[in-house]
Amino acid sequence: MIGERIERLVDSFKAKFDGMPDVIVRAPGRVNLIGEHTDYNDGFVLPIAIDRDIMIASRRREDLTVRLYSLDYNQLVEFGLGEIKFDDDKKWSNYPRGVTYFLQESEYAISGLDAVITGNVPIGAGLSSSAAMEVATAFTFEKICGLSIDPVEMALLCQKAENKFVGVNCGIMDQFISRLGKKDHALLLDCRNLEFELVPLNLENVKVVVCDTGKKRGLVDSEYNSRRAECERGVKILEKFLPGISALRDIEIDDIRKYSNHIPEITEKRCLYVVKENIRVLESVSALKENDLLKFGELMNESHIGLRDEYEVSCPELDAMVEIAWSLDGVIGSRMTGAGFGGCTVSIVVEDCLQELIDKVNSEYPKKTGLKPEIYVCTAEDGAKVVEI
Ligand code: GLA
Repeated sequence: MIGERIERLVDSFKAKFDGMPDVIVRAPGRVNLIGEHTDYNDGFVLPIAIDRDIMIASRRREDLTVRLYSLDYNQLVEFGLGEIKFDDDKKWSNYPRGVTYFLQESEYAISGLDAVITGNVPIGAGLSSSAAMEVATAFTFEKICGLSIDPVEMALLCQKAENKFVGVNCGIMDQFISRLGKKDHALLLDCRNLEFELVPLNLENVKVVVCDTGKKRGLVDSEYNSRRAECERGVKILEKFLPGISALRDIEIDDIRKYSNHIPEITEKRCLYVVKENIRVLESVSALKENDLLKFGELMNESHIGLRDEYEVSCPELDAMVEIAWSLDGVIGSRMTGAGFGGCTVSIVVEDCLQELIDKVNSEYPKKTGLKPEIYVCTAEDGAKVVEI
C-alpha cells in the first residue's frame, strides 16, 4: 500500500511540476497510550507514532516561491517566503505556512520549493494529522535545504507554528512524537525538560487498536482552553501555600486534599486528575518494562475513568466505545485518547480477540450512538524520516 501511495505522489508531482521530486519524507500521526492533558502541566506522556502519516514529495527552487499541492484536497497554494499569511480558505495550508514562517523567524536559511502532499491520518479524529503535517513540512525543508535541525528544536518550532500561526493552544506531545517516535517503542516524555526515554513495546500476540467514534470534536478548542485555565488556577491557589511550585507537576495528591478548602470544587477535580494521571504514566512505564500488560491495562482503564469523571473531557460516544471494549475479556485496557469530546479510543487487545472486538464495535456502537465507527489496528513506527523513492 505504501508503494502505491508513493507512486501516486510521484505521478502527481510529475504532472504538476514536471520532472522528479528530490526527496520524499513522511511524518506520522500518533496515538497516546496514557498521560492525557498532562503535557501542558509539565507532566508525563506516553505516546506512540503510528503507521498513518503525511507524505511530502518536494524539489528545491532557486527562488523564494513555495508551491504546495494537496493531493487529497486537490488544491494548489502559492506564496512567497517574504509574505506568509493565514489562509482562511485553504485551511490545510496554514500548517505548512506556519512552519515555513517560524523556520525563517528562527533564521534557518530556506529556499522556495515545489511540493505535493498526501496523507492517510484521519483528519479531525484526534490522531494528530496537524502535527504530522507540521513535522513533515519542517523535515522537508531540512532535507531540501541541507539544514541540520535538532529534532527537539524541530518539535518545538512546529508546536510554535500551531500555537501562534494556526492559533491552537496545544502542548508539545504531538509534534514531539511525530518527530522522535521509534518503531516498536512508546516514548516517555517529561514535558518539563523534554527529556525522553524510548520504552520497548513487547506486544507479542497483542494489538493496539484505535477506534474512531466518528464524533467530530466540536467543543474541543474552548473546553481545552478552559481545562488549561483551571489547571493554572489550581497552581495559583496552591502557590500561596507551597511557594516555589510552578505547575501541577510539582503537586502531590495530599497537597490538594490538605488545601481543599481553598480550592473551588471543579478546580480541585481537574487538579486531582492531572496529579493522578502523572503517577499512572510512570506506573505504566514500570508495568511495560516488567511485561505486566494486565497492570498497564488497568491503568489505562483508570485513566479513562479519570478523564470521564474528574477532568470531564469524555463524551457519550467515547464512553460507549470504551464500554464495548471493556465488556470483552480479550481487551486488556481501553481509554479515550487525545484531547477528548470525540475522536478516538485506544485499546490493547489480545490478538485472538481482535475480530470479536471489531464485530462488536461494528454491531453495537452504531446502535448506541447512531454513528459509524472506524477501526484502525496500529503499529508503533519511526518518527519523521526520508522515504526511499
Ligand atoms: C491534544 C494536544 C496535546 C495534548 C492532548 C491531550 O492532542 O494537541 O498537546 O494536550 O490534546 O493530552
